[in-house]
Amino acid sequence: MSQNGKLKAGIIGMGKMGRIRLKETEAHEAFEIVALTDVNSDVAREFPQYKFCEDWKQVLDQDLDVVFVCTYNQFIPEITCEALGRGLHVFSEKPPGRTVQDIEQMRTAEEKAGDRVLKFGFNHRFHYAVMEAKAMIESGKYGKILWARGTYGKAGGNSFANNWRSNPEHAGGGILLDQGIHMLDLLLYFMGGFSEAKSFVENAYWKDVPMEDNAFALLKSDEGQVAMVHSSATQWRHKFNLDLYLEDGYVCLNGILSSTRSYGDESITFARKQFEGEATAFGKPREETIYFDRDDSWKLELQDFYDCIVGKKERPTGSSEDAYKVMRLVYDIYDAVGK
Ligand SMILES: NC(=O)c1ccc[n+]([C@@H]2O[C@H](COP(=O)([O-])OP(=O)(O)OC[C@H]3O[C@@H](n4cnc5c(N)ncnc54)[C@H](O)[C@@H]3O)[C@@H](O)[C@H]2O)c1
Repeated sequence: MSQNGKLKAGIIGMGKMGRIRLKETEAHEAFEIVALTDVNSDVAREFPQYKFCEDWKQVLDQDLDVVFVCTYNQFIPEITCEALGRGLHVFSEKPPGRTVQDIEQMRTAEEKAGDRVLKFGFNHRFHYAVMEAKAMIESGKYGKILWARGTYGKAGGNSFANNWRSNPEHAGGGILLDQGIHMLDLLLYFMGGFSEAKSFVENAYWKDVPMEDNAFALLKSDEGQVAMVHSSATQWRHKFNLDLYLEDGYVCLNGILSSTRSYGDESITFARKQFEGEATAFGKPREETIYFDRDDSWKLELQDFYDCIVGKKERPTGSSEDAYKVMRLVYDIYDAVGK
C-alpha cells in the first residue's frame, strides 16, 4: 500500500478492457495506478503519466498490491498464477483462460496464496436489470424457475478472421467462450447448475476460422429445469435476451447497455401468470417494464473487488469457483456435440 493508504495497481494489456479498468481504477479513490504494459509499445506514448513496463513480468516486479490482467485469454493463467505467487490480489478478465485446466491451475495458485483475492470480470452480474431479476427471483414471489431461454449474439465484422479472437492459440475457443460465457454465467447465477447438455457448435459462416461462430445448447438441471442458449457471432443485429419462466410468472431481460448501445436499451419485463379472465386476458398478462439508463457494472465490480480486499465481503462475485463452474459448462457444451 502506498503512503497515502491507496492500493498500488498495475494493468497488463491496454486494449479495450485494460482501458476500461484504467478509467474505473483512476476514478476509485482507494486505488493508485503504478504501472502499465502492452505488447504494443505505442501505448506508452498515450499514457505518459504512468510507468510503462517492457513486459508483464516487469509490471509484477514493481511494488504493487493488485494487478489487472487484460491480455488475450492465452496469457491469463500464467500471469494470474505468477501474480498470486507474489502475493498480489488479482482481477482478471473472463474467460478464465482457455481450458478447464487453466482455471484449475489458477485455483491451486489462489489456495496457496492464502487471503489474496482472485476475481474474474463477469460484469454482467452487475448490470441493473440482472440485479433486479436476481432480487425478484430470490424473493420467491413467482416460485421456482421452470425454464430459461437466452440469446447473446454479436456481428463478427470484416476483421473477424484476423482478430486474436479467431486464433485458437490466443483465444482457445470461439464465440461461446468469448461472449456466450456471460450468458452461461447468468444461467448458473439464476439456476444453480446443469447436469446434462446437448449441443450444436457450428461454423455457420466463417468456415476457415478454426473455432465456432455459433453455438446452440440445451441444458438440464437435476431438478428438471431446462435452459436453451444461443451464442452467435453472426447475429448481424446485436441481441441480448434472457427469458426466465417460473411457476407463477416470468422475468425477461431485454437488451444490455454497452459502450456502443448496439444491444438496445436495457430493460426487465415481469408479470404474474394470469389464469383468470381467459376470454380477454389469457396469454396477455398485465406486465411491467423497467428501463435502465446507466451501466455501472464496471464500477460496481471494481468496488466488489475492493470490498473483498479490505475484508468487507468474503468472496467476490466472479470468484474462481464461479469461473470454474462456467468453464466446466462451456466445455460440457463443446463435448456434447454429436452425442
Ligand atoms: N468483461 C467483459 O465483458 C469483457 C469484454 C471484452 C473483452 N473481455 C476480455 O478481456 C481480455 C482482453 O480483451 P479486449 O477486448 O480488451 O482485447 P483487445 O484486443 O482490445 O486488447 C487486448 C490487449 O492485450 C495486449 N496483450 C496481449 N497479450 C499481451 C501480453 N502478453 N502482455 C501485454 N499485453 C498483451 C494486446 O496488445 C492488446 O492491446 C480478453 O480476455 C477478453 O475475453 C472481457
